[in-house]
Amino acid sequence: MFRWFTAGESHGQGLMIILEGVPAGLTISEDYIGVQLARRQRGYGRGGRMLIEQDRAHIMSGVRHGLTLGSPIGITLENKDWVNWQEAMSVAPVENMSQEGRNRRVTRIRPGHADLPGAMKYGFEDVRNVLERASARETAARVAAGAVAIRLLEEFGVALHSHVVSIGGVWAKPVEPINWESVEESPVRCADPEAASRMVAAIDAAKEAGDTVGGTVEVIAENVPIGLGTHIQWDRKLDGRIAQALMSINAVKAVSIGPGWEVVDLRGSQVHDVIQPVSDPDHPWQRLTNRAGGTEGGMSDGMPIVARFAIKPIATLRNPLPSVDLDTGEAVQAHFERSDVCQAPPAGVIGEAMVALVLADAFLEKFGGDSLPETRRNFEGYMKTVGPRKLYQ
Ligand SMILES: Cc1cc2nc3c(=O)[nH]c(=O)nc-3n(C[C@H](O)[C@H](O)[C@H](O)COP(=O)(O)O)c2cc1C
Repeated sequence: MFRWFTAGESHGQGLMIILEGVPAGLTISEDYIGVQLARRQRGYGRGGRMLIEQDRAHIMSGVRHGLTLGSPIGITLENKDWVNWQEAMSVAPVENMSQEGRNRRVTRIRPGHADLPGAMKYGFEDVRNVLERASARETAARVAAGAVAIRLLEEFGVALHSHVVSIGGVWAKPVEPINWESVEESPVRCADPEAASRMVAAIDAAKEAGDTVGGTVEVIAENVPIGLGTHIQWDRKLDGRIAQALMSINAVKAVSIGPGWEVVDLRGSQVHDVIQPVSDPDHPWQRLTNRAGGTEGGMSDGMPIVARFAIKPIATLRNPLPSVDLDTGEAVQAHFERSDVCQAPPAGVIGEAMVALVLADAFLEKFGGDSLPETRRNFEGYMKTVGPRKLYQ
């Protein structure tokens, strides 16, 4: 059974991750995880925090001499900003809190953030108790966990990518095939350079106005074997699991697989992907199109998995919205503290991590294995059977 958890507050000492169920014998290193963490920290429109945090994963357990042991993998990420928050975020009670520490208390609720429901639900008198965990700093932990999943999937030829499709109403034109190196170099992780410069301008304009912008991001998983997930139970369907994983990313408001909402006005003959006669025994089921986005009946169908998600504009505005004070209920301007203007570019990296974690889970559910060679044997044995019955048996 593959499972994982994260812990950690945005300005606490750091983040922790535990991953269980990764087969023994997988190569993994802090540097490998570091590559993914660095990708999450880039992107035009991020706030000052990213200049402070240069994330470095520290593997605490589950790995020996560069190979996983099959035991839980423990990873920590230090919060470099902790030095400035030791009093305000102290684990132990603080007597005679300094004025600076007291100023860290937040009562001016931000519309659109977790502040109001979180404070009511947990009975807090300081919104900081909510925002520290609702902050997307937690997504660094997901990216570290996702890096382990990506490493596992890589062993079986599965590759994940992401790109930004829109920011602040500026849409990229479809690019086919996408040059993934140029996406990595794009300041907004967009495959269309012309749209990318207009996206940068949209971010600049929002920043100038003390405002924020959201966007649309696409994650693509290539070479996913046919048959991950299952049609037999609602909570084991692969498309449903991907949707939940992506929707759980902070500020994500919609998820679609393949063309999603676009199919509603089309006829069936315009939507479904015609299956071609077998011409290559290594790739028995070929389609001319991938409108299903790589899943049919809650299972991967052997085509690339394409999932899009919409991310709302950030709730912390330099030019804050009207709100009320938690103590008095009187009109105030919402709280502002250092914040991003647009989070769509890093959200793609987080989306890749979340899709990789779902796929790794579904992959291990299908192929099992306490060691990588055992997983591989099961995988290869299965792959020999996935063609037209008369040719493959
Ligand atoms: C990569 C990333 C960075 C984010 N940065 C900020 C930020 O700087 N300020 C902020 O208010 N919200 C930021 N958010 C969004 C909030 O974390 C999110 O809106 C909040 O948790 C409320 O949850 P909800 O929008 O899903 O309802 C970010 C989200 C992501 C994915």
